[in-house]
Amino acid sequence: MRKFKIAVIVGSNRRESINRRLAQALAKLGAAKFDVVWARIDDLPMYNQDLETQLPESVARFKAEVEGADGILIVTPEHSRSVPAVLKNAIDWGARPWGKNSWAGKTVAITGTSPGAIGTAVAQQHLRHMFGVLGALVMGGEAYVTFKPDLLDAAGAITDDSTREFLRAFVDQFAGLLQRLEPARQAAA
Ligand SMILES: Cc1cc2nc3c(=O)[nH]c(=O)nc-3n(C[C@H](O)[C@H](O)[C@H](O)COP(=O)(O)O)c2cc1C
Repeated sequence: MRKFKIAVIVGSNRRESINRRLAQALAKLGAAKFDVVWARIDDLPMYNQDLETQLPESVARFKAEVEGADGILIVTPEHSRSVPAVLKNAIDWGARPWGKNSWAGKTVAITGTSPGAIGTAVAQQHLRHMFGVLGALVMGGEAYVTFKPDLLDAAGAITDDSTREFLRAFVDQFAGLLQRLEPARQAAA
């Protein structure tokens, strides 16, 4: 299996983001299978249709990162039982301008963590809806991670064996799906 290029999008602009730490742990778990591009979203301007005539540089960069990836991994917090504004903003930029939807045909895997008992389940559900509408293929299954202070060790590795193996299976499932969809990506290229 060749290594797949994935764009990782963290749905938080917080410096000490627990989702960024989880994303880094997932990237380590998948290091043999993925080359990771960290697609930054905190420097995208607030979406405004007026800006579509001349896309801001950060938007053009973000869209190119999404379009150039074999797959997209979203690791996000939940805000007010939905998608954080910074991530919704990035999704809207990816979808625009009309006819230049960067998400169309992309394979997307979604996970996230929060200290709450249902670990971002509602935000992830909203993302599944959005990406379906935008013509992406969202990987099946569920990965809701309840964050505990000892989830990750000082080196950023997942401490609990069963959580690590669960997330390894999630990463492996994503690589397997990208492998099965390789002919479709090649045909579309
Ligand atoms: C505006 C706001 C809304 C939040 N709403 C939720 C929520 O609906 N569900 C949840 O589990 N946690 C919620 N939280 C708590 C976050 O899970 C927590 O702040 C977490 O650290 C955010 O992830 P991050 O560190 O990656 O930014 C909310 C936090 C903020 C700032």
